[in-house]
Amino acid sequence: MAETYEYGEPGQEAGYRRLRHKIMSYIIAQAIFAVTEAGVIEALGAGPADVDELARRVGVDGDALARFLRVLVAEGLFTEDPHGTFALTEMSSHLRQDRPGSLRHLVMLMAGEAYGAWGRAAHSLRTGAPAFDEVFGRPMFDWLSQHPEKQAVFDRAQAGLVTMRMAPLEQWDWSGVRTVVDIGGGNGGLLRTLLARHPYLRGVLFDLPNVINEADLGDRCRLVGGDFFSEIPPGGDVYVLAQILHDWSDDDAMRILRRIATAMPAHGRLLVLEQVIPDDDLRHPEKLLDLHMLVLLGGRERTLADWHELLAAGGFELLRTERATRSSLLVAARG
Ligand SMILES: C[S@@+](CC[C@H](N)C(=O)[O-])C[C@H]1O[C@@H](n2cnc3c(N)ncnc32)[C@H](O)[C@@H]1O
Repeated sequence: MAETYEYGEPGQEAGYRRLRHKIMSYIIAQAIFAVTEAGVIEALGAGPADVDELARRVGVDGDALARFLRVLVAEGLFTEDPHGTFALTEMSSHLRQDRPGSLRHLVMLMAGEAYGAWGRAAHSLRTGAPAFDEVFGRPMFDWLSQHPEKQAVFDRAQAGLVTMRMAPLEQWDWSGVRTVVDIGGGNGGLLRTLLARHPYLRGVLFDLPNVINEADLGDRCRLVGGDFFSEIPPGGDVYVLAQILHDWSDDDAMRILRRIATAMPAHGRLLVLEQVIPDDDLRHPEKLLDLHMLVLLGGRERTLADWHELLAAGGFELLRTERATRSSLLVAARG
């Protein structure tokens, strides 16, 4: 769908109108979160409906729903026919729960407390420190450990995105590998998939104790609760770090890497699944995620040059990089 900017007055310059739309666009994001959370996507997935019927199906206010839909029709998420019947579009079907790699998981990660932290983004700009801590009084992973229901939402959303993220691992030759250790593996989505595909493989799932307690991966996987700044299970052939290092500053990321370098045998390989920020001045989700990591955690996304430097500082040599759409695979050995 061509991008049109209908929010300005006729005759205003394109730049003015586009800027005004950008300034107001968190309303669009929040409208997407609200209708997704209310169940509008699944309800329309069951079949097109008019506003009254849809409002009844999901239990929301009819007038408010009509106004939310008016905005989101213009954004290409829904269609409305001349009889006032609304339907999903190709775009909004990516929010359906049953869709592999559904963007509903991203909605869950961007809404709620994450959005609350963005209200103080200027604090991150001024100080380079995470706004989350200012708003919620403690670092995000600490805060999550004290709010089990939010922790469960976070873990489920991460697990839901894992299938897409781990695509580059499909190409990896697992034949010589006996034990794979997933550091910060959450509730084990990535390991579960790997173990199911490779019956000879054994896994170690390592994460904070409160996260590990919720995981169940069968008898080929050992669950280890701990803090990766002070301990890493030794002896794995392959260590996986999926979406971990971007949560941390260079200093903290280097501390995690050094722990792994000490625990990993000389023949071992470190597989890092992360984003690589392209060296250009175009729009890329990695550049938005970079700011998101700053605001939430004081972390960062990295360019290829940054990755070389960080891995070297952490005791590793970057052997190769496989760029993929969702996340790239960085293969490293002890340096
Ligand atoms: C962004 S999530 C990534 C989860 C998973 N690897 C994935 O790709 O979906 C970061 C994970 O790091 C874990 N984590 C945070 N701090 C940790 C620490 N100090 N020690 C161990 N795990 C930690 C969190 O509990 C969370 O599961």
